[in-house]
Amino acid sequence: MNFKELCQARYSCRHYQSRPIEAEKLAYIRECVRLAPSAVNRQPWRFILADADTPELLTRVKETYHRDWINEAPAIVLCMKAESECWTRRYDNKPHADIDLAIAIEHLCLAATEQGLATCWVCNFDINQFRDIVTVPDGLEPVALIPIGYADDEAAPKVRKDMKEVWL
Ligand SMILES: Cc1cc2nc3c(=O)[nH]c(=O)nc-3n(C[C@H](O)[C@H](O)[C@H](O)COP(=O)(O)O)c2cc1C
Repeated sequence: MNFKELCQARYSCRHYQSRPIEAEKLAYIRECVRLAPSAVNRQPWRFILADADTPELLTRVKETYHRDWINEAPAIVLCMKAESECWTRRYDNKPHADIDLAIAIEHLCLAATEQGLATCWVCNFDINQFRDIVTVPDGLEPVALIPIGYADDEAAPKVRKDMKEVWL
């Protein structure tokens, strides 16, 4: 699979098999995430895998995203930023933790796709409920949940803006 094929193959999967993910595949994905670039190489991110080994955590995390399909996910990666660690541009005080974390998360999604797994970005979880029922380490802010596992559906055709709208 070349990079364009990988970009086409990655899609937002909303139906998962219960089949667990092989440890080697998770290790490969973890390393791809670790290698992501970040502003001034600050790496202001932390990740926690919630899966069958942490059933209570997995259940609680699922409760914060109010869609039935999330219950099918055999695992969810909690993606958190450490804003105090990130680079901030002095000209406008713009912190770059969200940008950095987004790059690392997309590494996760693309690496998973390459390994035959499926993912979906989930940002529309209830952040207040999350803070109430999931213990987040000090200094971290949850940004996205990434369900990960073997797909039980197929990719829909990609809907994207025309090239001319995007490349000015
Ligand atoms: C930052 C971000 C947040 C998203 N949050 C959600 C979400 O909360 N729930 C959901 O079902 N999909 C979510 N998505 C998935 C998008 O809807 C999806 O990427 C987009 O429709 C394009 O489809 P594709 O990923 O299948 O190519 C999110 C995607 C991104 C990049």
